[in-house]
Order: sequence, then C-alpha cells, then structure tokens
Amino acid sequence: MSDKNLDSDLASLPTNIRHIPTQKYFDYCNYSLENNESFWEEMAEKLEWSKKWEKVLEWNKPFSKWFVGGKLNASVNTIDRHLSTWRKNKIAYYWEGEPGDKRTLTYSELSKEVNKFAYGLKSLGIEKGDRIALYMPMIPEFPIAMLAANRIGATYTAVFSGFSSSALAGRIQDSEAKLVVTADGVYRRGKVIQLKKIVDEAVKTTDSVQNTIVFNRTSTDINMESERDMWWDEVTQDADEYVKPEPVESDHPLFILYTSGTTGKPKGVVHGTGGYLTYVNATHKWVFDVKDDDVYWCAADIGWITGHSYIVYGPLLHGLSSVMYEGALDYPNPERSWEIVDKYGVKVLYTSPTAIRSLMKHGDDLPKKYSLDSLRLLGTVGEPINPAAWDWYYNIIGKKRCPIVDTWWQTETGGILISPSPNLGLVPLKPGSATFPLPGIDAKIVNEKGEIVEHGTKGYIVIRKPWPGMLMSLYDDPERYKSVYWSKFPDFYYPGDYAVQDKEGYFWFLGRADEVLKVAGHRLGTIEIEDALVSHPAVAEAAVAGKPDQIKGEAVVAFVTLRIGHKSISEMDLKLHVRNELGPIAVPQDVYFVSGLPKTRSGKIMRRVVKAVASGIEIGDVTTLEDEGTVEDLKKAFKQLKGN
Ligand code: WT7
Repeated sequence: MSDKNLDSDLASLPTNIRHIPTQKYFDYCNYSLENNESFWEEMAEKLEWSKKWEKVLEWNKPFSKWFVGGKLNASVNTIDRHLSTWRKNKIAYYWEGEPGDKRTLTYSELSKEVNKFAYGLKSLGIEKGDRIALYMPMIPEFPIAMLAANRIGATYTAVFSGFSSSALAGRIQDSEAKLVVTADGVYRRGKVIQLKKIVDEAVKTTDSVQNTIVFNRTSTDINMESERDMWWDEVTQDADEYVKPEPVESDHPLFILYTSGTTGKPKGVVHGTGGYLTYVNATHKWVFDVKDDDVYWCAADIGWITGHSYIVYGPLLHGLSSVMYEGALDYPNPERSWEIVDKYGVKVLYTSPTAIRSLMKHGDDLPKKYSLDSLRLLGTVGEPINPAAWDWYYNIIGKKRCPIVDTWWQTETGGILISPSPNLGLVPLKPGSATFPLPGIDAKIVNEKGEIVEHGTKGYIVIRKPWPGMLMSLYDDPERYKSVYWSKFPDFYYPGDYAVQDKEGYFWFLGRADEVLKVAGHRLGTIEIEDALVSHPAVAEAAVAGKPDQIKGEAVVAFVTLRIGHKSISEMDLKLHVRNELGPIAVPQDVYFVSGLPKTRSGKIMRRVVKAVASGIEIGDVTTLEDEGTVEDLKKAFKQLKGN
C-alpha cells in the first residue's frame, strides 16, 4: 500500500453523516470483548428458539459449538415468525429476470412455496441430516429450496451456477448429495445457459444422486430421465402448504459452501445453525442499519456466501423487502443497475468493487440520467476497493449523501467481521479502509511469529476469539480445518489476508497472503487452476499467478510447459479446457508457453518469481533457482506474445 493511503486524511470525508462519538462506539466494542459470552448470548436471544441453550460456547479449540443444547429452525426464524405479524403480507422479494419479467413474493407466499417444496423433498425420502445439492440460478426457487431444506433439517450445499459439470460433480461427490435441485436453464446476457445439461454431465460421474428436481425457467428442451428427474411443479403440485418444522440442534450443519484454498481440492466450509443465524442477524443490523421500510438490494449471487448471508438469511430474519435480480448488472446496457435502483426505490445497495469499476468505466452520464435519490447507504465486499472507485461510488452514485460500508469477511466467517457500523455509530470513513472490527470480533495484526505489530507495520490479520459465525469445520475433514486455519498461529483463527492498521488504528486490507487469487471478487486457488491445466494431455507443468487488472482487481495468468510431441496445442485449447474443468470464472486471461518453469534446486516452483513476471515487477533474488535461464524464458514469452 502507498503511504498516501496510510495517511489518507479525514478532510475529504463525508461531513453530513451522523458521527456518534467514536469513543462511545469503541467502549461498546470493548464491553463486547470483555463480556464476550454474555454479549453473544444477548444477540442469540433475538432469534426464536424452540429450546433454550444450556451453554453459550463450548470451545474445544479450534472447534466451537455455540448455544449448546439449544434447538431452533432456520425457516421458522426467517418466515414463520413474520406470519403472525403485519409482515405477513409484506413483500419479501421483488424479483426481476434478466429479460425484464417480474415476480413478487410476500412472506406468506414465500412460506407456502417453502412448505410445499419441503413436503416434496420429504416425499422423495430426504430426511434430517441428508445432503442435497442446489445448482440454481438467481430465481426465487433458490432461496425457497434452501429454506425448504432447512425446514426438514437437511443440509444443502449450494454450488454457484457458473461452475462447470466437473466442478459440480466434485462437490456432489464430496458431500454425498442424494438429490440435486436445478433449473432447465438461466438467462445470461441474453442467452440461455443450459443448467440441466451440466447437471446431467455431473451426475454421470457420481453415485450418490438418486433424484434431480428441475425448475422450468426458460422452457428449454431438455432431457428428463423418467426414473430420476422430476419437474419442480410435479413435486409441489399436491403438496401440503404446511410442513411441521424440524427443530435442530444449534450446531446442526445448516449448509456447506465449497471455497478455494491452497490445494487443488475445494474446501467444504460447514456452517452451523444457531451460531450462524445469530451472527448474520446481528451483523445485518449493525452494518446496514436495516429498517422496516427499506428496499434492500444485495447484488451478489446466492451461490456464494454473500448471497447466503445478506440476500437470504439476514434480510429474511429482519423481515425486509429485497430486490433479487437474475442477470448481469450491465445487461442489456450499463444502465440496468441504476434503472433497478430507481424502479424499486432501493435504499441500501451492496455490491462488489469489480461491479463498481465496470460500471464506472462507462462514465458519469449514465447514472446521472437516474435520480438515485432513494439510496441512503452503500456497501462493498469481496476485494479491496481502490480509492478512485470508492470516490465514484460515493460522489456519483451516493451523491455525497450515503456512507459506504466497506465490509471485510470470508466464506468461512459466515458474516461481516470488519466494517463501519452505521447502526451502532458510524466512525469517520476513509476510502479504501474497512475501518474497525465489529463488536465481539477480536482482530489483530501479527508478524510471522504471531506477535502483534505496531500500527503502520504490515502483517497477517488474525482473530483471537471465536465468534458465532465462524465455520464449524471443513466437511468430513477436521484435520484439514485444523491445518488450514489453526496451524500457522495455533492460538488464532488465520484468514490468510495481509493487512495493516494506520496510525489511527484503521484496518487496510492488502490482499491474500496465500496462493489464492481474487478475480472479480471470486476466490480462485492457483493450484486448482494448475491442476486443471495439467489434466490436459498436452500439458507437462503449469504455474498460475495473478496480475493486476483495472476492472477485475486481478486476472489469471498461466505459464505452461508442453509434453514432447504436443507443439500444436493453442492458447484457446487450454482456455477451453479450464472452462470445462472449472467454469468460465477460472479461465486464464493469458496462457504463455515456456520451455521451463522457475524452480528451486529441490524442484519447487518459485511462485514469487512467477508472480513477479506475471505482474511485470522486479523479480529480486534468483540465486536459489535451479536454472536462472527459465526467468528470462518466462519474460521473453510474456513479451513476445503480448507485445509488452
Ligand atoms: C476474501 C474472502 C465475504 C464475501 C465475499 C468474498 C477478500 C473480502 C474484502 C474487503 C478487502 C476483501 C479477502 C478475503 N475480501 N472482502 N472488503 N476488502 N478484501 O468471500 O470468496 O470467501 O473471499 O475476499 O481476501 O479473505 P470469499
């Protein structure tokens, strides 16, 4: 980070925002850390429990169980609770399809659909503890299927609908899902993407799946196997509109979300029920200052954690009205987002720095055609936001009226950990800083030895106390959970990000400290992409790195060596191969063919060197390289191919 950011002064900051005395907010944070268990207990009391817990926290480091002995049901908390209030007929979702078709669902309509689908799942033999996979586009049936699984105590895994059939198959295999819920297709940039076809391919290589349920979204011609595949409407047509909710233990796994790490195999992050819901409920209020008359729009995909926590669970726990949009934010043109904001009177908008940058590149005139006056709060997530994008979001979209909450968190953390809190007391903002840890979160920056560093010194962020949203484990792999998050610093949760606190203590995030890339806010493991490349018969070895990208934050660059006799393979062949193995989000922007990769004498690829070449920065010391010539070779390939 540059010194300019470190010293970013407060002068250019919003002046019209309610700043409660910062000290008062910090006092509250200190109170929450000193009385941690009773603090979280207070937060858990905001939910509806069918049996109260006996113990707030069982901390069997590094395994936490929250609200032990308590029982609850997620669908009761997100839906049934509202049915006895005026919110019964309140709109839960304003849904808009990419082609412009619309649907609205009130809380009571949502309840009906969730119960019917829960009934359908049960009649197909799905029981408490079973796993099912959801491979769904952004349609209301996605949250309906999630909440239906919750209602009967089944654990689902949601797989982002941009993943390829082999990525889907891997997740189905790992979770041993008995059933897959999908749609025939989805509209994306005016085209239909055939999801059911991808499911057919995936299911061929798995043996746990007994049924699939298919929602008709696009009326695309698809193959239905009579014994295995059923239409959503068939499953729900004679279903009861009330299914008794199954109260589950507080630590019952609510869902599994796979995310990339530093090995090829994605990690199945397991979130529990009571802790996760308590955390999402609290943070949604603190960060978005949610109010009953809000129209709230989180423009993420429900296939990722952001959509889980802040399109589905958070907003429904609070009985809010949300916008849910199916398609690309800039389709059919970059005005689409602003049109949606005006049409529904969106008050709170939560999106990613990549989305902001890609809309910003079309200039100020497009958003200026819209009033955007309904907006009162803006949020970002997924990657660091550069001050230029922050300024544009603040000045042009928020018209200097709306605070920006830059929210730092991860799939594993369940909810936001570091962010301003307009509800509890907004601290002065600094463009590019996520500001301070939320109450109850004991975040520090440490050096390699685990010692807390001084303000101004870069280090690793760690969280020293468990919090209710923390992942419980990795699915079926507690050893990997221990080694990924609790071995670098045995006493702290290790997120894998670099960060620095400035002299006033503000947190600035500086990117991943491990072999993980953030491309357009998506998390990709370099080794996962290398494995995909090497699975091509022509590829001998591959090394993948990120290079800075103006819009996407980072772009994927791959260096490969070919097996003898495979000279005719093209860059496009390999890109297609990665697309088939992982999905479009993982496709390298550039593939360079080289004759050797930089390795140490012990044969390890020197990632630092590959990274430096990919980003065009100083390479540094290469004396430990086995063959220094490989660096020149890499650089030459990079220059020749791209005319750099
Ligand atoms: C990684 C987690 C959390 C939902 C979306 C991403 C990066 C996330 C920020 C932010 C700087 C951020 C971190 C983190 N990240 N938010 N506000 N500022 N970096 O979830 O896919 O699990 O990725 O995203 O590197 O570790 P995820």
